[in-house]
Amino acid sequence: MTTPPTLTGERVVLRPHRPSDVPRIVAACSDEQTSYWLGMLPTPYDDEHARAYLESNAAQEAAGDAVHWAVADPGTDALLGSVSLMDLTSGSGPEVGYWAHPDARGHGTIADAVRRIVEHAFTPKADGGAGFGKLRLESAWDNAASRRVAERCGFREVGLERHAIICRDGLHDAVKYVRLVTDLS
Ligand SMILES: CC(C)(COP(=O)(O)OP(=O)(O)OC[C@H]1O[C@@H](n2cnc3c(N)ncnc32)[C@H](O)[C@@H]1OP(=O)(O)O)[C@@H](O)C(=O)NCCC(=O)NCCS
Repeated sequence: MTTPPTLTGERVVLRPHRPSDVPRIVAACSDEQTSYWLGMLPTPYDDEHARAYLESNAAQEAAGDAVHWAVADPGTDALLGSVSLMDLTSGSGPEVGYWAHPDARGHGTIADAVRRIVEHAFTPKADGGAGFGKLRLESAWDNAASRRVAERCGFREVGLERHAIICRDGLHDAVKYVRLVTDLS
């Protein structure tokens, strides 16, 4: 799996990122909540950072290490968020990561996108999917919206790692989630 296949959710389209997404990537990654919970993001975050993000995504995809989908509005094609499958070659199951543009939050947008990517990830390769058996997800313990997305998408909490996620104000405890292909949704 290298280039992200275009997938259709209930209310979103998942497609490769495009250079025209740069202004909305900048807005999303400059947002206070994104910047807080994803504490490794540069701040201030500008067009150059967004272009570097797209280049780094493409390099990871070419190496087979990750796949990054733009979550887009099916009507306008506007970028609503981003969902990634990372660590594809680790052998312990890819890790799911996501962020939403602030104007797309509160509508279940990312949950819809993650559900569709989970379905794709667990579909056998012979049937056009990615053929994985296990997915992982990590969230800061106190990131309620992110944890709710994980739980809405059928991920089960499997543990807590102390001081494991870098947020803007320092290390936070991480809740670890797993979803197996054999789990009922
Ligand atoms: C996490 C994030 C992607 C969620 O995306 P979203 O599509 O906006 O999700 P929603 O706003 O629909 O919220 C999902 C659920 O969390 C709930 N929620 C949102 N904020 C909440 C809060 N502060 N406390 C409790 N629940 C909250 C919503 O009610 C919703 O629950 P429901 O499905 O039962 O209605 C988004 O908040 C975001 O971009 N955050 C910054 C980046 C980030 O934290 N990424 C994840 C790092 S692990």
